[in-house]
Amino acid sequence: MNNLLKGKKGIIFGALNDKSIAWQVALKCHEQGAEFVLTNAPIAMRMGEINNLSAACGNAQIIPCDVSKNEDMENLIDKSMEILGGKIDFILHSVGMSMNIRKGNVYTNLDYKFMHDTLDISAMSFHRLLATCYKKDAINDWGSVVALTYIAAQRIFPDYSEMADAKSLLESISRSFGYQYGKHKKVRINTISQSPTKTTAGSGVKGFGDFFDYAEALSPLGNANAEQCAEYCVAMFSDFTRMVTMQNLFHDGGFSFTGFSPDVFNVGKDAE
Ligand SMILES: NC(=O)c1ccc[n+]([C@@H]2O[C@H](COP(=O)([O-])OP(=O)(O)OC[C@H]3O[C@@H](n4cnc5c(N)ncnc54)[C@H](O)[C@@H]3O)[C@@H](O)[C@H]2O)c1
Repeated sequence: MNNLLKGKKGIIFGALNDKSIAWQVALKCHEQGAEFVLTNAPIAMRMGEINNLSAACGNAQIIPCDVSKNEDMENLIDKSMEILGGKIDFILHSVGMSMNIRKGNVYTNLDYKFMHDTLDISAMSFHRLLATCYKKDAINDWGSVVALTYIAAQRIFPDYSEMADAKSLLESISRSFGYQYGKHKKVRINTISQSPTKTTAGSGVKGFGDFFDYAEALSPLGNANAEQCAEYCVAMFSDFTRMVTMQNLFHDGGFSFTGFSPDVFNVGKDAE
C-alpha cells in the first residue's frame, strides 16, 4: 500500500533528529504520497539535521515556529497554505519540553516559571495551533489533527513529573477542540498515547530505561517503536479513520489494559 495519503497536504511539528517520532512520521507520510511542510523551534534547527529529513521527503519546505509564540504560529499556517497551495489535510503535533525535568527539579518543588513554559509549549501550543487554523479556516473538511501523548496523563509515573499535567491538559484540549472543530468544520482531533520510545525527549526523563524495560515486559505485544507509531499516525491521517475524533488512542502494545504479567519479575535481572 503506497498511496494512503496521495493528494493530502500536511504540517509536521517536532522532527529534531532521526530518533524523533515526528521524523519517522514524515518519512512514512512521504512514502504514502503526502506533501507537507516541516517545522520546529528556531533553536532546534540550528543543529541542521532537519535538512536531511527535508531532502529525504522530496525537499519538503522547513518553516521555523516556536509553538509558544502566536506570531510564529500565524506565520506558519499562512506560509504552509501558500507553499502547499491550499488548505491543510493533516497535522502532527509532536512537541514536548520541561525545563523542570531537565534541571532535575522534583515534582514537590517545581520552578513555576519553568512550569508555565512546560504547559505552554507542551499543551497550550495545541490550542494555539488549532485556534489559529480555525480562525484562518486552514483545514479541509475531514482533515485530521494528531498530538502525541503519554499514559502518565492517567496513571502516575513519578519521574514524569509536571509533564503528566501537561499531557492531561493536552488530551483535554484535544477533546474540547475536537467537539468544536468537528461540529463546525468536520475536522477530527485525537491524541495518540505512545509507548516509551528512545528519543531525545524520552531519554531525558529520569529512570527512562527502567520504565522502558518495565513497559516492554508488561505489554503483551511489547513496546511500540517510533516507526510503528508513524504508521498509526498515517492511518489516522488517512480517509479510513474519518469517524474517529476526540479520542485518546493507546498505541502501546496493550500496556494500558494489562494489569500484570510475570515477565515484569525478570526486568533488570540481566544486569545483576
Ligand atoms: N519518547 C517517548 O517515550 C514518548 C512517549 C509518548 C509520547 N511522546 C511524545 O512525543 C512527542 C515527540 O517527542 P519525541 O519523543 O519524538 O522527542 P523529540 O525530542 O525528538 O521531540 C520533541 C520536539 O519538541 C520540539 N520543541 C521543544 N520546544 C519547542 C518549541 N518551543 N517550539 C517548537 N518545538 C519545540 C523539539 O525541538 C523536538 O523536536 C512529545 O510530545 C512527547 O511527549 C514521547
